[in-house]
Amino acid sequence: MTYNKKTVEDIDVAGKKILVRCDFNVPLKDGVITSDKRIVEALPTIKYLMEKNAKIILCSHMGKPKGEVVPSLSLAPVAKRLAELLGVEVKLAPDTIGEETKAMAAALKEGEILLLENTRFDKRETKNDPEFAKELASMAEIFVSDAFGAVHRAHASTAGVAAYLPAVCGFLIQKEISVMGKALTEPARPFVAILGGAKVSDKIGVINNLIDKCDTLIIGGGMAYTFFRALGSTVGTSICENDKLDLAREMMDKARAKGVNFIIPVDNVIGREYKEDTTCMTIYSDAIPDGWMGLDIGPVSQELFAKSIEGAGTVVWNGPMGVSEWKNFAAGTESVARAVAMSGAISIIGGGDSAAAVEKLGFADKMTHISTGGGASLEFLEGLELPGIACLMDK
Ligand code: 3PG
Repeated sequence: MTYNKKTVEDIDVAGKKILVRCDFNVPLKDGVITSDKRIVEALPTIKYLMEKNAKIILCSHMGKPKGEVVPSLSLAPVAKRLAELLGVEVKLAPDTIGEETKAMAAALKEGEILLLENTRFDKRETKNDPEFAKELASMAEIFVSDAFGAVHRAHASTAGVAAYLPAVCGFLIQKEISVMGKALTEPARPFVAILGGAKVSDKIGVINNLIDKCDTLIIGGGMAYTFFRALGSTVGTSICENDKLDLAREMMDKARAKGVNFIIPVDNVIGREYKEDTTCMTIYSDAIPDGWMGLDIGPVSQELFAKSIEGAGTVVWNGPMGVSEWKNFAAGTESVARAVAMSGAISIIGGGDSAAAVEKLGFADKMTHISTGGGASLEFLEGLELPGIACLMDK
């Protein structure tokens, strides 16, 4: 899917009331933001609007409060962090579309910023309720979509609102779709795709789409065990989708037919139980014994994957190679992060655990692009239409 959407620079925003949908769904621990990447990535659009003296109304979801007001999912910590980063006051509205909130939006002066409270505190948001979207739109003259992480959701504030206002994208969405779009349409070759994570079923569409485009496809993480099983190996108690074995074989056949180098692990770190401190050992084979489960790729696979990544022109990586949040099973993901960082390739990291690994290891500045979207970047790589972008005005 390629998009050619109008951006915030293609419309006159000067002095106008602009509703900006951001993805401020940041990780919180005890009310403290543990990564402000999504807030930082929203700054270019917000600063541009400030320079243009726009009256800025920001909105976002946080977590999954299911239509209830959940105080721990308030956007208050985001308002505070945003104010620190911008060095200006960021007012926080009491809700998303209530009377007091509307009055606050109407009273905004040029260059001022109001952040609406968590859009998902109202159950109409995720239902893409047209009345809710209309009320939200009524506060502004232009809609700017910059919530890349949420554009795969057809919700009122991500897509519905575009029916009532001229709608354009912000700089973050523009960057995400241009970098990832280029990797898919005109990649520097060889193009190496690395997919990990627990389930084949979550990644079928992506595998399918990437086989059509890449030169090498590396599979790690829990989903590798479904491929092992499909090839006749034993997988012990590893996560394995037995109803997806035919599909796994189909994917491997398709890769062969297209001349794609399809690589799965050749050795594994296995454990007795799915527990951080479980007894574990390395087994130099893809055959996992009874009573053991694969929890990471082994050292030979690390080497094999690193060799395949070396010399790549483009690398797209989504999903960890093992249970990377546990020390004993993090080495595979870390070695891939290192190999991608050292490759000199155009490197694109899907959000989630792979992005976290890259950041934790201090490789973030060695990557071309770390997406702010987990699910959204996967759907983009899958070639699916993203409702939060499709609804915007074409150039
Ligand atoms: C994300 O964290 O991937 C986005 O903010 C979307 O959140 P959601 O999966 O709750 O819709």
